[in-house]
Amino acid sequence: MKKWNVATVKAAKGVQKLGCCTAYDACFARLADEAGVPIVLVGDSLGMNTLGYATTLPVNMSDTLAAVGAVARSVKDAMVVGDMPFGSYQCGDDKAVENAVAILKAGADAVKLEGGASVCGLIRRLTSAGIPVLAHVGMTPQSVNQYGGFKKQGKTREQAEQVLCDAKAVEAAGAFAVTLECVPSELAAEITAALKIVTVGIGAGPVCDAQWLVMHDLLGLNEKVPSFVKKYADLAKTVRGAFAEYVKDVQTGKFPD
Ligand code: KIV
Repeated sequence: MKKWNVATVKAAKGVQKLGCCTAYDACFARLADEAGVPIVLVGDSLGMNTLGYATTLPVNMSDTLAAVGAVARSVKDAMVVGDMPFGSYQCGDDKAVENAVAILKAGADAVKLEGGASVCGLIRRLTSAGIPVLAHVGMTPQSVNQYGGFKKQGKTREQAEQVLCDAKAVEAAGAFAVTLECVPSELAAEITAALKIVTVGIGAGPVCDAQWLVMHDLLGLNEKVPSFVKKYADLAKTVRGAFAEYVKDVQTGKFPD
């Protein structure tokens, strides 16, 4: 299999749909890679899925660098994208470039950051410094306090125009792909048709060029999941059952034998 990179992801538009997911550690990154996942995102959702936070906001650069390193050392073919955590690029463009460089030095092939027109200057700086950027518009979880909750975006025509403008702006600024999170599927379809770059939807319907799912949702490790998620396994039940059986076996002397 070939190693996925910016060029192969771009070339997939209109040719092949890409099923992509998050991973935050060596074991699951290796399994996702072996299964043929083309892009593994070390999402800032690691805050909720591995660190026990309620939002992505507390995730910091050390959390990100440790997870990116573990994932990058464990994949062969997948492209690794490192999410820039909240505060790592809202602090001025010089510091943001420094943080993006650190994410690439930890092993990522590209960074992802949230925002539309407001982050285009930074996207231009990063791409001209050789740092590929996967943008993220629509519902941007780092702005949860601004929205007053994780709410679908682009529902009114005015909001939809804004999301479309943001998507066009990040493409013009040099992003190689753009995440469309929690927007109506008709809007995602309109954006996907309007852009030359790959759209990666999450809760944005079936028309996008690629999809994200959070690993813990798709594997059923998270029992409560958003309504758009399809669970491909029920690992919470399997894992809990295995732990319980082990505890019982030790108690009853069945293990070790
Ligand atoms: O951190 C995350 O999980 C994301 C999703 C869009 C996949 O950014």
